[in-house]
Amino acid sequence: MPQSTSSTTLAPAHAADAPATTPALGFSTLEHELSADELELHGALPAWLSGSLLRTGPAKFELGEKRMRHWFDGLAMLHRFTISGGQVSYGNRFLESRSYRAAHERGHMVYGEFATDPCRSLFSRVQTLFSGGALPDNANINVTRLGKRFIAMTETPLPVQFDPRTLKAAEVRPYAAPGQLSTAHPHADRASGAMLNYAAKLGPRSSYRFFEVSAGADRGRPAAARVIGSLPVREPAYMHSFGLTDRWLVLAEFPLVVNPLALALSGRPYIENYRWKPQRGTRFTLVDRATGKALKGFQSGACFAFHHVNAYEDGGEVVVDMCAYPDAGIVEDLYLERLRAGKAISPAALTRFRLRLADRSVSSERLADGDIELPRINYGRCNERPYRYVWGNGAGPSGWLERIVKVDTSGESTRSWSEPGCYPGEPVFVARPEAEREDDGALLSVVLDAAARSSFLLVLDAANLGELARARVPHHIPFGFHGMFTSVVASATPAEHE
Ligand SMILES: [Fe+2]
Repeated sequence: MPQSTSSTTLAPAHAADAPATTPALGFSTLEHELSADELELHGALPAWLSGSLLRTGPAKFELGEKRMRHWFDGLAMLHRFTISGGQVSYGNRFLESRSYRAAHERGHMVYGEFATDPCRSLFSRVQTLFSGGALPDNANINVTRLGKRFIAMTETPLPVQFDPRTLKAAEVRPYAAPGQLSTAHPHADRASGAMLNYAAKLGPRSSYRFFEVSAGADRGRPAAARVIGSLPVREPAYMHSFGLTDRWLVLAEFPLVVNPLALALSGRPYIENYRWKPQRGTRFTLVDRATGKALKGFQSGACFAFHHVNAYEDGGEVVVDMCAYPDAGIVEDLYLERLRAGKAISPAALTRFRLRLADRSVSSERLADGDIELPRINYGRCNERPYRYVWGNGAGPSGWLERIVKVDTSGESTRSWSEPGCYPGEPVFVARPEAEREDDGALLSVVLDAAARSSFLLVLDAANLGELARARVPHHIPFGFHGMFTSVVASATPAEHE
């Protein structure tokens, strides 16, 4: 069937100035929403591969007169690639969050973002932060599943539920995290399917709180969040994710910290209130999943990370792997002005920390020579357990992410995929049913083809990174952060569900 579009032109908006083969196009607005029944496909999809890749990411970087300043600020757009019967369909839609609706209706920015703020009074800032009354919900970081519900997430406590077929947002909030800040990288409890996450509760007395949300059926109202454990903290650290083992929730506090009062009073955008204090080092805390009790006192040298990769228990040690930077300069690197100018981003190193329970000592080692970000593992099989493989993105000559890499943590060689002028996003691993090997499956990555001014879904063999197929979208897809694959949504005709 031919592609159907909701727009008469497919030329990307605000992208005319992007040079032909640089990644700059990936940081430009995409206005078009479309529904394509069948994408142009090259190669052959694995016969066993059936389901949908759901992704979120920033897609609109201007609101009225205001230009977003940071990659994390853009208004969220959802993308769906559905693989069924050897074909790929596609749909994209702005996430109709409170932030989006307010901006759309009023024509200007209403809620603050990561590094861009609307003009607001001091009273409004304090009220927003300490009451939680008007926090943004521009869920442009990750997509996950909570029981039967699909939700998009950002780092505020307000996830947005959506229909995975139509990508329309639901009216009801799935839950609210118990704090003002949270992560878009929850874990799932293996036994119950419940969501595990952390939130920072800010105020005169601030605390970190790990919490759990049941995967129970959607009853048309927000689910309750149960606090597992709470830790008092004076200056909360910026934490984008956390680790999980059979027994422990693993918190890594990097020395990028904020004074909660300053956050409310400074008048600066959110992230610009954080301060780098390397003398604090990196502090690890283990919180018992059953009792909520904390084991503190693990300290290592200063570093920074967005992404934990995996964690597990190994005798008397807890192993914590993450994509680590020597400092928090990567936050600065991701300002749009720098990215569009082609400045290189700092490289992250796959780093293993070993937390020894007996004496609370911490050792660390680098697991691979090359850089890696946006890491994925065979989560269903390996999270909380010893594992071998990490897939992610590595930088190339442009200074931006140009490669898909597969790292063997046992030390064997790293494999990679790349193509000139192409910029792949996070590679999502999908295990082959009946697979015996950890790396038996497919990798799905959305790739920007700068010269063609469009993007395609790339399907690789996860074991050797050989290309299996690609399905081209008739527009560029701005670089996104994270997504998920679900076999539940293998049929995606919107009419069936509207
Ligand atoms: Fe992330």
